Amino acid sequence: MRYFLKVYGCQMNQYDGRLIEAILGAAGHCRVDSPDRADLILINTCSVREHAETRAKGYIRMLPKGKRVGILGCLAQREGIDLIEELKVDFVLGPDCYSLLPGIIESDGPIVATNLDGELYLSIRPEPVLPVTMVTVMRGCDNYCSYCIVPYVRGNARSKPLRSVVDEVRRAVGKGAKEVLLLGQDITSYRDGDAGLAQLLEEVAVVDGLRRIRFLTSHPKGVDDKLIQVMKEINSICPHIHLPLQSGSNRILRLMKRNYTIEEYYDLVARLRREIPGIGITTDLIVGFPTETVADYEATLKAVEELRFDFAYMFKYSDRPKTEAANFKPKLSETEKIDRLKRLIRLQNEITKEKNTGRIGSEVEVLIEKRGRRGNYLGRTPDNLVVAIDGDVEIGRFYRVRLERIVGWTPVGTPI
Ligand code: 5AD
Ligand code: SF4
Repeated sequence: MRYFLKVYGCQMNQYDGRLIEAILGAAGHCRVDSPDRADLILINTCSVREHAETRAKGYIRMLPKGKRVGILGCLAQREGIDLIEELKVDFVLGPDCYSLLPGIIESDGPIVATNLDGELYLSIRPEPVLPVTMVTVMRGCDNYCSYCIVPYVRGNARSKPLRSVVDEVRRAVGKGAKEVLLLGQDITSYRDGDAGLAQLLEEVAVVDGLRRIRFLTSHPKGVDDKLIQVMKEINSICPHIHLPLQSGSNRILRLMKRNYTIEEYYDLVARLRREIPGIGITTDLIVGFPTETVADYEATLKAVEELRFDFAYMFKYSDRPKTEAANFKPKLSETEKIDRLKRLIRLQNEITKEKNTGRIGSEVEVLIEKRGRRGNYLGRTPDNLVVAIDGDVEIGRFYRVRLERIVGWTPVGTPI
């Protein structure tokens, strides 16, 4: 069968897209790059905010008629059979059920499979993406932050065995990967027996030929001395951490069940910057959480101003069914949330621009990843700065680049 696969959502979902590709490939099906040429259309969906769901549903409604359609992923898990009614699709499969795909696409009639049975897909060998490949090391999450749907749609946290992660990385590097991005919803809670994230990083770092290691997403409560030590000592571990703050107000952090105070977060950032000079720190922020007052919101602005993140993903709070926060009142109006988000984005953008402008004239190491929309090549520095290249370079190679100017927020440089 020829199938088309569209992926919404986070890196975890991208990785799952490659799992799906491997499962269907092994059963003899081939992926095509347009829905029109496909017999079967698969959409791997996200549920993290309502907007992500609306977009996926809009896309599904626009699909060419007369084809088999399957909804996969987090929205599939959340709505199950209701999606069959609402969108008239043929099947709905949650994140732990992809191994059933080959059988399901051969049978007719609507099918729903949404067991969350702790699947880790250890026997599936996805093809690496070059030069930067993702490797999932954990699935699910046990933190139950009060706003977050993830534990409900992806189940409880479980880790892949350390050996299995190292094997997957080794295979990817054997096929040409230069950088690996290790993935977990809360990767700082990775566990295999006595080994935690720090030990996993140590073991991955000895894979021959691997030049760079990154990992996502770190929970502030899980960043310990051991992890900082390993990041400091091992050269191939990129000096970059994605460390979602979510809010600058202790009252809101408590309601979010984040398990740290703003003071603890400041201390952690100070320690990271002291121990790992030049570390890039990126974050996630939510505005308009239920009950958020102007003072709470201003605490977030103040934190952003003082912490000077290199980059931030910023969101307005979105009610998610089943989560605790869905029951918190009062809610903020949509206009209030939009106003707060706009002002926050303006502030962080200024900081990002200032920080990037400050690097003009410096030399950095860039791994070229792909071509950008303007046709020029794009790559990343170890501390996660995205750099556009003036001139001809080769994807998958490292260059010393002198940064020369800023376009938008992106530094542009020439290889030397
Ligand atoms: N509303 C808004 N943003 C959310 N996020 C998670 N759940 C919600 C929600 N209900 C954001 C958090 C998280 C990122 C992946 O998405 O900032 O870190
Ligand atoms: Fe990823 Fe969460 Fe969206 Fe699922 S709901 S795709 S885990 S961001």
